Amino acid sequence: MFSTLFRALLPLVGCAALLRSFASVDAKLVNKAELHAKQAETVARLKANLPRATAPGGGSGVKNITFTNPRASEFYVDGTTIPDVNWDIGPSWSGLLPISSDPNETRKLFFWFFPPGPQGSLDDLIFWTNGGPGCSSLEGLLQENGPFQWSYGQAHPTQNEYSWTNLSSILYVEQPVGTGFSLGKPNISNEDQLAEQVVGFMQQFLDVFKELQGKKLYLTGESYAGMYVPYIANYIYEHPKALNLSLTGFWVSDPVLGWDVVQEQIPAVDFVHKYEHVFSFNQSFMAHLDSVAARCGYAGYFDEHVTYPPKGLLPLPGHSVEADPGCDVWDEIFDAALQVNPAFNIYRIFDTWPILWDVLGFPGSFFQAQSPIYFDRQDVKQAIHAPLNVTWAECSDINVFVRGGDQSLPPAFTVLPNVIEKSERAVIVHGLADFILIAEGTRIVIQNMTWNGQQGFQTPIQNDSFVVDGMGALGTAHSERGLTYFEVALSGHMVPQFSPKAAFQIMEYLMGFRENP
Ligand SMILES: *[C@@H]1O[C@H](CO)[C@@H](O)[C@H](O)[C@H]1NC(C)=O
Ligand SMILES: *[C@@H]1O[C@H](CO)[C@@H](O)[C@H](O)[C@H]1NC(C)=O
Ligand SMILES: *[C@@H]1O[C@H](CO)[C@@H](O)[C@H](O)[C@H]1NC(C)=O
Ligand SMILES: *[C@@H]1O[C@H](CO)[C@@H](O)[C@H](O)[C@H]1NC(C)=O
Ligand SMILES: *[C@@H]1O[C@H](CO)[C@@H](O)[C@H](O)[C@H]1NC(C)=O
Ligand SMILES: *[C@@H]1O[C@H](CO)[C@@H](O)[C@H](O)[C@H]1NC(C)=O
Ligand SMILES: *[C@@H]1O[C@H](CO)[C@@H](O)[C@H](O)[C@H]1NC(C)=O
Ligand SMILES: *[C@@H]1O[C@H](CO)[C@@H](O)[C@H](O)[C@H]1NC(C)=O
Ligand SMILES: *[C@@H]1O[C@H](CO)[C@@H](O)[C@H](O)[C@H]1NC(C)=O
Repeated sequence: MFSTLFRALLPLVGCAALLRSFASVDAKLVNKAELHAKQAETVARLKANLPRATAPGGGSGVKNITFTNPRASEFYVDGTTIPDVNWDIGPSWSGLLPISSDPNETRKLFFWFFPPGPQGSLDDLIFWTNGGPGCSSLEGLLQENGPFQWSYGQAHPTQNEYSWTNLSSILYVEQPVGTGFSLGKPNISNEDQLAEQVVGFMQQFLDVFKELQGKKLYLTGESYAGMYVPYIANYIYEHPKALNLSLTGFWVSDPVLGWDVVQEQIPAVDFVHKYEHVFSFNQSFMAHLDSVAARCGYAGYFDEHVTYPPKGLLPLPGHSVEADPGCDVWDEIFDAALQVNPAFNIYRIFDTWPILWDVLGFPGSFFQAQSPIYFDRQDVKQAIHAPLNVTWAECSDINVFVRGGDQSLPPAFTVLPNVIEKSERAVIVHGLADFILIAEGTRIVIQNMTWNGQQGFQTPIQNDSFVVDGMGALGTAHSERGLTYFEVALSGHMVPQFSPKAAFQIMEYLMGFRENP
């Protein structure tokens, strides 16, 4: 199917040449020098608003952090030896540690730890996990919030201006067992067991890196980590002696928090209407979508049920927590979007042909694989103490949950209220250009959840309420009873990758480095 589409694209190449000649006529309106001046002005304005670039202790290098346990040196990574990274990223530590103190423990998680940069705080520790299930947190490191980045289409790695190491130290963990370089056979079938293994690993980690004990901990993650993070947080709050860390808050972005029908199906047709010119569907297909939405109880759901405050518990649109038969509009939209735009990316709907090369070979909706995959290179594995005999893939092709998959309910129905109540601050973040999980669906989940004694937000989420320093309004931000919800315009599923400045500001708020969202 894809190769047919590829051939169908060839005539378009001719069109592109035509467009280019029109563009040169228009070019009279804005010449290159003027355009570059405008771009430079925006870049300068954004840079002028980097609070941490000028914080005391500025300069280069990282905070002076040393680990006295001699075992720490086994994990030391010399920042001048990372393949293809042609500057010194400073010291970091990576490798495998078991999930328990059992000397025969076969289950080991791979981690990469970065100390804070010169502007970062020494009092905090950020834990980051990607989702999947089974997708590697090294993706977050290399393409979202780590100190160096190698994103889609980049020729080589670059320094990440918005690295979260500017906030504090950060620990990337490939979990659960079965993900990335982590070793051993998966044996979990729910989120409590997952949390127990993560905490078991953290105990081993804090034993080697003792100097990190006592820090304030922030749990962060994206997508399916909307399941992981609240359950890990809940486990830590319910086992206060398990870790010598003080869990203070958490971040989940574009998270799985509720039912599939809510986060994918109910808002899907509204989403297409909102971005009608991006999807570019024909009128008969739009009419078909509208009729399915009406028949399946999706049409008008949002206006009727998402009120501030809510009128009561929010109903399911049909009989299922997924899609009722004949009501899977999400899949129909995805198929039709690929008919029009073979580069259609459910993670960021604005993508068009050609599909950019990805050094991590993200499978997602892309069919090309780059070779070699960065973390599957022998020299990379050697530099970071990764097991040489493991073939690394961004998302695992084995099931990381055994015995029929993850048996836990979505956290909005279980642990999420508890962990919001116990945290100093908690943020739920959503990119507005994400189609795999849709922001309107997350609003439904929030309005149906009771925390700190009340159901949902009591007052409406205001448009333009999220103001990014130096940039202006870029979505919405709304806080009530210890929970802040952000929607980020122009961002797809991976908010720290697609809107790094917004993500950085949200983390500053979460960590108490700024008063207001
Ligand atoms: C992060 O640190 C780097 C290196 O010190 C600096 O260039 C950059 O501006 C900082 N970024 C932010 C968002 O403060
Ligand atoms: C870093 O720590 C080491 C050992 O504790 C000390 O000798 C060195 O002076 C410190 N460097 C800075 C820049 O503080
Ligand atoms: C580890 O395995 C060895 C060999 O099977 C066994 O002799 C030993 O008792 C085991 N140790 C523990 C702590 O279970
Ligand atoms: C999984 O294996 C670990 C040892 O690696 C063990 O401690 C744990 O009880 C097992 N969990 C389940 C759910 O079987
Ligand atoms: C926890 O960490 C702090 C800070 O390093 C340390 O002073 C304290 O002794 C630790 N507590 C335990 C029970 O190990
Ligand atoms: C709202 O929450 C209740 C349980 O509290 C649940 O039964 C129901 O399915 C939820 N509705 C939606 C739309 O998620
Ligand atoms: C309209 O779009 C649908 C869905 O992609 C497609 O099946 C149909 O052939 C299209 N019709 C026209 C006239 O383009
Ligand atoms: C890979 O090597 C590790 C030791 O580094 C070993 O524990 C593991 O069993 C090996 N895995 C495979 C698939 O050979
Ligand atoms: C917020 O923006 C949406 C979309 O543009 C619009 O439909 C809605 O009316 C606005 N809300 C308010 C309170 O102005």
